[in-house]
Amino acid sequence: MTHETVIVLDFGGQYNQLIARRVRECGVYCEVKSYKTPLSQLLEMNPKGIIFTGGPNSVYLEQSPHIQKNIFEQNIPVLGICYGCQLMAYTLGGSVTSAVTSEYGKTETQFDASSLLFGGLPETGVTWMSHTDYINGLPEGFAVSAHTADCPVAAMENAEKKLYAVQFHPEVMHTENGLQMLHNFLFKVCGCTGDWSMSSYAKTAIAQIREKVGDGKVLLALSGGVDSSVLAALLSKAIGDQLTCIFVDHGLMRKNEGDEVENAFAGWDINFIRCNAGEQFLSRLAGVTEPEAKRKIIGEEFIRVFEAEAKKIGKVDYLAQGTIYPDVIESGAGDAAVIKSHHNVGGLPDHVDFKEIIEPLRLLFKDEVRQLGTELGLSPVLVWRQPFPGPGLAIRIIGEITPEKVRILQDADAIFREEIAKAGLDRSVNQYFAVLTSMRSVGVMGDSRTYDYTLALRAVTTTDFMTADFAKLPYELLAQVSSRVVNEVGSINRVVYDVTTKPPATIEWE
Ligand code: XMP
Repeated sequence: MTHETVIVLDFGGQYNQLIARRVRECGVYCEVKSYKTPLSQLLEMNPKGIIFTGGPNSVYLEQSPHIQKNIFEQNIPVLGICYGCQLMAYTLGGSVTSAVTSEYGKTETQFDASSLLFGGLPETGVTWMSHTDYINGLPEGFAVSAHTADCPVAAMENAEKKLYAVQFHPEVMHTENGLQMLHNFLFKVCGCTGDWSMSSYAKTAIAQIREKVGDGKVLLALSGGVDSSVLAALLSKAIGDQLTCIFVDHGLMRKNEGDEVENAFAGWDINFIRCNAGEQFLSRLAGVTEPEAKRKIIGEEFIRVFEAEAKKIGKVDYLAQGTIYPDVIESGAGDAAVIKSHHNVGGLPDHVDFKEIIEPLRLLFKDEVRQLGTELGLSPVLVWRQPFPGPGLAIRIIGEITPEKVRILQDADAIFREEIAKAGLDRSVNQYFAVLTSMRSVGVMGDSRTYDYTLALRAVTTTDFMTADFAKLPYELLAQVSSRVVNEVGSINRVVYDVTTKPPATIEWE
């Protein structure tokens, strides 16, 4: 692909993929690379610009990630963010020290409007800060372009060398005009034109798939979720009946979902096979309580089922997976700490019985996948389906999984979804589900004591699933769900509503 490319150089910050998403939102293609990538490899990508992410370290510690000075001498614009800002200062001879007052959260900031980065924006605004170190000495040739009450260098630049750095996080929504600042960097400093679009991506991806696969056979892991459905559409456009879709019902789907998925693809011109492997999954998961262990087992079991199916079909060359970019980054391909192994990446076993795995959506973010689905003419019902994690209810049953707990959760979750839809909130709330906690507590029903499970309800609003707010559901709705769950499901005597944002919590409980 010959798109203009910007590199997001990852120093271990949790916002690294958010930066990448924002860049793509501006219509510019970008990839996240580890800071350890040799400069020669970065240069081969012919980047229009490089963005350094934040990171959890202090630049002056020996074990912290560092960078060779010559990256700044390639005539490629660089934008340093947070740790990346301090690293630029430190590497180029400025000084960084621990601040007396660390800044965290929304901070009033003054900008120099003559900077290309802040041009056209108000001179005062709120930025999102998260740092204890600060720059107390500029490198030669640099000027301060923003400051706050406690931070004398909230931004600095050497415009001649196209080196820019901001102590705050322009990529998070709390920074006013943050997206515009990134846009300014990309278009005014790097000279990008914004040539990244889904129609161009679809054409290129189809051509690449054809070239790669030739007349080989491809198996697709179809879950009925957005990613694998879009992938099915993409692959069927590219290679038609060389594709076989296998839908593994691992017995951890939502209530009736297995049948719904099968029906949704009934009218499609593809080879569709449904495998009911519930017992196999549940027996492997018996007694397992640790979330990462569950995820790994499920990932591995998926591959085993595919291998078995593939053998029945005959020679299969490729296994296609709907892995998307956040899965790749969150599973630790970059340098950020591993938060969760997504089952389709971190859980891959070492030995896989196929010539190769292909992941044509690997570089796309969720909203880009939806755009691609629409571009390919996929039904809106599939394109706009609320996300459901690959490991399914296994990560919504805290602790050990039993068939009985699966039944309880399926019934409770169905009630919650039904009531949300009745209230007309199924589009505005981006993800909503029930979690069966392993906690039991005392209750009273009729004249008897009960000692039953607590069900947690989770509903979030989010645009990118990387940050999220809890949905402000009406009390009447919560009351109705609570009453129905306790009365209709059995084994649940208490219902609570999760009111944490992401971060610090994640959306799923495991
Ligand atoms: P978290 O819990 O990390 O979830 O805040 C963010 C989004 O990702 C979904 N999710 C997964 N999707 N495989 C998937 O395909 C997984 O292993 C997985 N884990 C979480 C989650 O439902 C939410 O939409």
